[in-house]
Amino acid sequence: MSYPVRAKISALGTYVPPKVLTNEDLERMVETSHEWVMERTGIRERHIVEKGVATSDLAVEAAKIALAQRGISTAEIGAILVATVTPDMFFPSTACLVQHKLGAKNTWGFDLSAACSAFVYALQTGAQFINSGAHKNVLVIGADVMSSIIDYTDRATCVIFGDGAGAVLLEAAEDDATGLIDFLHEVDGSGGCSLYMPGGGSLNPSTHETVDKKMHYVHQDGQAVFKYAVKKMAEVCERLLKRNNLKGCDIDAFIPHQANRRIITATGERLGLRPESVIINIDRYGNTTAATIPLAMQTAIEEGKLKRGSLVMLASVGAGFTVGATLLRWAY
Ligand code: UT7
Repeated sequence: MSYPVRAKISALGTYVPPKVLTNEDLERMVETSHEWVMERTGIRERHIVEKGVATSDLAVEAAKIALAQRGISTAEIGAILVATVTPDMFFPSTACLVQHKLGAKNTWGFDLSAACSAFVYALQTGAQFINSGAHKNVLVIGADVMSSIIDYTDRATCVIFGDGAGAVLLEAAEDDATGLIDFLHEVDGSGGCSLYMPGGGSLNPSTHETVDKKMHYVHQDGQAVFKYAVKKMAEVCERLLKRNNLKGCDIDAFIPHQANRRIITATGERLGLRPESVIINIDRYGNTTAATIPLAMQTAIEEGKLKRGSLVMLASVGAGFTVGATLLRWAY
């Protein structure tokens, strides 16, 4: 897709809360084992917040790092987009809370809800403001405090999720050598009942009954989501590669949503990716929903796999169902 002005990621900041919840800790809380969790998911530990810490707090920490990295003041931020499924509250939006905590004047922003695909959706949404010339700098944040909506007596979900945040700064690319190249997004609402939080919204407003029925927690049909994700992530990436005349082996860094190690490796094999190009950090963070992709970008940088001009493919499948894939060339 060609735009008069191409957007690029010019900085990245990530943050996870210090408290670590290991598989051994979970063994003491529910009937599970470190071996089961490692084998079925690839997760060893995840970070979770202390009581009173909210999504906006993690988002602000990540945003500050990204801004400092690029030397951009809060006064220069054109818009703040927060991808999250765990806003601090229904309203005001987490974007407003982040704006206030950052002290960012002259900006606007909003939250974007697309569960695990929310970061890639927000990235493309933010890019449109750069493409159109409306803004010079857009802050795109993926942040979730999944521990706030997890039932820690349900072994099927509590072993999977963690808390975290990642923020990227979008700016105009100087030329075609770097920046966002193309994207392919889809939603399929028929999968809504496979992964959802039924309580607290307009359909089932919070009552003592909804709380007693644990409707304010994540409910997941793990196998149904797994089957859809393992097929769809590869399919959408294949289509994106094909229409850009690329092959899996051309990708320098594949940065997928981290929901399950088996989904990631199966996708990598089907796409013919070089194993070393597949970024996996689910062992350390679990599934942090909107934060997995920026956290995995950070891992890719630490592993020396992102350099100026590196060809990167982002991919996600999540609740909704939501599906997304993005091609870009790393810019710094
Ligand atoms: O990010 C959003 C998108 N989400 C995903 O992509 C998640 C996709 N799904 C998955 O990753 C996997 O389905 C899970 C990790 C959630 C579950 O793994 P699975 O291999 O599909 O397990 P299962 O649900 O088929 O359960 C197999 C067995 C069951 O026992 P029985 O019925 O065979 O006796 C479960 O009760 O494992 C049992 N089980 C557990 N055992 C120990 C389920 N959770 C646990 C647990 N510890 N934590």
